[in-house]
Amino acid sequence: MNVIAARTAIAAMAHGISAALRATPRDPAAAVAQVLGHYAADPTLLSGQHCPCRADTYIRHLLHEDAEQGWAVAALVWRPGQMSPVHGHRVWCAVAVHQGIMTESFYVPDVADGPPRQTGVALRRPGDITHGPACPDAIHRLANLGTETAVSIHAYGLPYARFCSNLNTVHAA
Ligand SMILES: [Fe+2]
Repeated sequence: MNVIAARTAIAAMAHGISAALRATPRDPAAAVAQVLGHYAADPTLLSGQHCPCRADTYIRHLLHEDAEQGWAVAALVWRPGQMSPVHGHRVWCAVAVHQGIMTESFYVPDVADGPPRQTGVALRRPGDITHGPACPDAIHRLANLGTETAVSIHAYGLPYARFCSNLNTVHAA
């Protein structure tokens, strides 16, 4: 796939997200995750996109934003050993792995107000999806525990400018 075709694929993915949100407004995360999984499975989706990794932390690269519907989709690049905090989401979220293997860990809130307790773990490979509602108590962590750089595609029900301030409720580093 050349650069123009990759841009077309990202535009098509964005169109699919928008259509899914219109068709399934009551469960946006699941509907959008299906769209992301379809496109993320294509290894050339990001051809020609400049999505560098960062030495000290994983990093987001905006792919598309729909201000009218209030969502954005980004590529997250994870070097081996990089991981998110333990967090829940204040808005719906949908994720698909594009490259590499991500490890997703699940947690439940502690009844005594201590740190969340881990309940499970799953490996996510290219094309695999995961999603969650707008619920800070639906807690998880994504990590690249593999040996190669990983890339995941994330859509959130929030404008991109508010990703850093209004997206996550962090429960633990
Ligand atoms: Fe998350």
